[in-house]
Amino acid sequence: MSNDGFNPNTGDIYHPSPETVAAAHIKDYEAVYQKAVDDPLAFWAERAETLSWYQKWDKVLDDSDAPFYKWFVGGKTNIVLNALDRHQTTGRRNKLAIIWEGEDGEKRTLSYWRLSQEVCKFANVLRSMGVQKGDTVTIYMGRTPEVVIAMLACAKIGAVHSVIYGGFSEQAIADRIDDAKSRVLVCSDGAWLRGKIVPLKENVDKALERSPMVEHVIVVRRTGHEINMEQGRDYWYHDLMSLPVASNKARTEVMDAEDPLFILYTSGTTGKPKGILHTHGGYQVYTSTTLEWVFDIKDEDRYWCAADPGWITGHSYIVYAPLILGATSIIYEGAPTYPYPNRWWKIVEEYGVTILYTAPTAIRGLMRFGDAWPNRHDLSTLRLLGSVGEPINPEAWKWYHRVIGKERCPIMDTWWQTETGGFMITPLPSVALKPGSATRPFPGIVVDVVDEEGNTCAPNEDGKLVIKTPWPGMLRTVYGDPERYKAQYWSAYKEQGWYLAGDSARRDEDGYIWVIGRIDDVIKVSGYRLGTAEIESALVSYKDVAEAAVIGVPDELRGNVIHAYCILVSGATPDDALIKALKEHVRHEVGPIAVPTSIEFVDKLPKTRSGKIMRRVLKAQAQGLPVGDLSTLED
Ligand code: WTA
Repeated sequence: MSNDGFNPNTGDIYHPSPETVAAAHIKDYEAVYQKAVDDPLAFWAERAETLSWYQKWDKVLDDSDAPFYKWFVGGKTNIVLNALDRHQTTGRRNKLAIIWEGEDGEKRTLSYWRLSQEVCKFANVLRSMGVQKGDTVTIYMGRTPEVVIAMLACAKIGAVHSVIYGGFSEQAIADRIDDAKSRVLVCSDGAWLRGKIVPLKENVDKALERSPMVEHVIVVRRTGHEINMEQGRDYWYHDLMSLPVASNKARTEVMDAEDPLFILYTSGTTGKPKGILHTHGGYQVYTSTTLEWVFDIKDEDRYWCAADPGWITGHSYIVYAPLILGATSIIYEGAPTYPYPNRWWKIVEEYGVTILYTAPTAIRGLMRFGDAWPNRHDLSTLRLLGSVGEPINPEAWKWYHRVIGKERCPIMDTWWQTETGGFMITPLPSVALKPGSATRPFPGIVVDVVDEEGNTCAPNEDGKLVIKTPWPGMLRTVYGDPERYKAQYWSAYKEQGWYLAGDSARRDEDGYIWVIGRIDDVIKVSGYRLGTAEIESALVSYKDVAEAAVIGVPDELRGNVIHAYCILVSGATPDDALIKALKEHVRHEVGPIAVPTSIEFVDKLPKTRSGKIMRRVLKAQAQGLPVGDLSTLED
């Protein structure tokens, strides 16, 4: 839900309890923040020292070719060395890494030892298929342990994974495969969601008709329904894993700190999705530090990040950081309300979850069913809660705090992005909270709210969120398009050398940041990041549509929903049947999450003289707000 239109600063402040502060890794935020500001390189070097390296770095930061920053230059490592290998010689090898529950009730656990064995086996499978260091592998699966195994196996052999969220379909998959140039794709036959099968393999088959680059498809059996297996192209995962080549010992590739770890596609202002590139060295330091300090991970914790591994939240905080810290994670496959709205609370009770990290949209969705569902369960193990993906409205924050956290658990409202790798603006457990504010920057992060010229905005004045200094978890480039990396993130405040986040925000008198929402053509639907361009191009690929524009319209539950305007080709009939057909078409092309809630047929769209659609005008009109400055409008 957008914070737009109201001042969420209600004056409420929630102070941490003395017990919370006493237990926290960082008890004095101000002191640590100051230390990091005074000497950022020493600060990050000290953090990097907590991890294992094959060879130590020569230089913490090389900024000679900014904005192409390099971290821990000369260092040799592999994120798998830290996420798995180093645990195998300690008591951690016996600890549960993953506790998994399928939506259908199936259960599995993997110790650190077992997970490492599976990863070795799959690493050998990939190697036997000719996957080498630097090659990209596309992964398209539901939430099962195999997605984690596949990601780690790639990292282990130095391959670059590109995970596509299971909610995307044909064209979206094809575009991402083509851009990443993957020869190998790992998927599952399907996934369970709300009691139904998501036909993942079918989507892959259709995508591959458009994207013939893929030579091998490895299919994990999850749902067991009938699927097409193309001879010579498709292989069952379990068959490959039982071959002699899939031995449970595999060498971890020695990587340069700056070698690529993964690409994750995300929506930008215009055009095709961008492949955000992260690397082994800086990313491992940044994600593990932020998770350790913000969620205060301890050995006895049972930590549950309820996101999807196919988004950055899953990459950083289901897969990599928890494993680096040796944590025990819960992964649940399906919908929070299946078969009943108490599914999540049952999981918390059954597994004794201590930390729950989710999105405002999920909280609002569960809040709708009332307090009785959570109240039927023992949630007393919870000690910390988290939120991510969009601004959390104070009402949802307070419900989460009162009904789920029993007024005992602080809420870590973490602001960050695919591009930032990890949390950027976030409380630590020892920081006082204000519902709806992500509070203050993480130690080592310098943020500001500025106007067009780069002047710091006055307290409570809207401005653009910028990050003023580099950090180890930052994206390194847009895959295959360094110019786009510069243009998108570093051109707005080029002289100053600041990173433009793409969000608007305010800072209050206490220095607390209130993120308002995107300032570009990115729409957040249920916390999922979607680009207008991808949805519009799906709409115009339909024979009856000449032109299309989509906007996000604020929605109580989902934050935003998509509203589409279409200009039809002459002769097409603007009726309900066409609306239905268009929705179906977008579902097939981009995915269910991208389907417009409403479609309106129009004769004209507001455009600038250079032909750019003025979505700002459409948005204002749709909400009945003043349309603002129209001087650049063509007509
Ligand atoms: C939004 C998700 C307010 C923001 C990790 C950002 C948030 C975009 C918050 C990145 C939050 C994320 N409060 N807004 N706590 N967290 N956002 O790349 O607009 O999927 O720019 O990364 O989500 O979305 P992405």
